[in-house]
Amino acid sequence: MKIAVVIGSTREGRQTDRLAKWIAKNIEHKADVELLDLRDYPMPFLNEAISPRYNPERKTDAETKKWLEKVAEFDGYFFVTPEYNRSTSAVLKNAIDVLAYEIEDKPVALAAHGVSGGAQAIASLRMALPGVGAITIPQALFFSEMVAKAFDDNDELKPELRDNPYGPQAQLNAVIEKLVWYTQKLQK
Ligand SMILES: Cc1cc2nc3c(=O)[nH]c(=O)nc-3n(C[C@H](O)[C@H](O)[C@H](O)COP(=O)(O)O)c2cc1C
Repeated sequence: MKIAVVIGSTREGRQTDRLAKWIAKNIEHKADVELLDLRDYPMPFLNEAISPRYNPERKTDAETKKWLEKVAEFDGYFFVTPEYNRSTSAVLKNAIDVLAYEIEDKPVALAAHGVSGGAQAIASLRMALPGVGAITIPQALFFSEMVAKAFDDNDELKPELRDNPYGPQAQLNAVIEKLVWYTQKLQK
């Protein structure tokens, strides 16, 4: 079972990568996990004349092709998004818009953070992902702490957050358990 953890921010000084690394580390002993950093896939914004899902003759630029081939390798996904202006990031939305059938019928867990907890970023992804046939699982991680203050220098969650039965570690454990369950059930 292969699970991709997608870092949904590429800006200089970003925090989303720290959250994504912590999530990936927590999946390690349950599945083959790989971090996908959108900085490694500097795709243009979708500019194709025909919608990807309606273009059997589709040819893309090299960077988009690399992204599509990588995404297709996995059985399940954990998208980690910042909240920008009450939504997900443009770079993550574009990485979804260029997909055709690569994540069709596959489960996606969502995690978000932001000064107000990321709920609207999650909601925006729940609207977008069915468009490419993906299944967003009901559970999600609303990381309401400031990422910059929640992790130590080794990217470990601070003990007071880790040991709180209602804190982010407990929430993450529950989301991962469900993502693994859905991934097993839906594995092709
Ligand atoms: C352009 C911009 C818009 C933002 N809008 C929101 C917002 O609507 N809601 C929110 O909770 N946080 C918002 N924030 C705060 C970010 O979620 C926070 O800075 C977070 O660290 C961004 O993730 P990143 O560091 O990986 O880019 C915004 C930040 C930026 C840069």
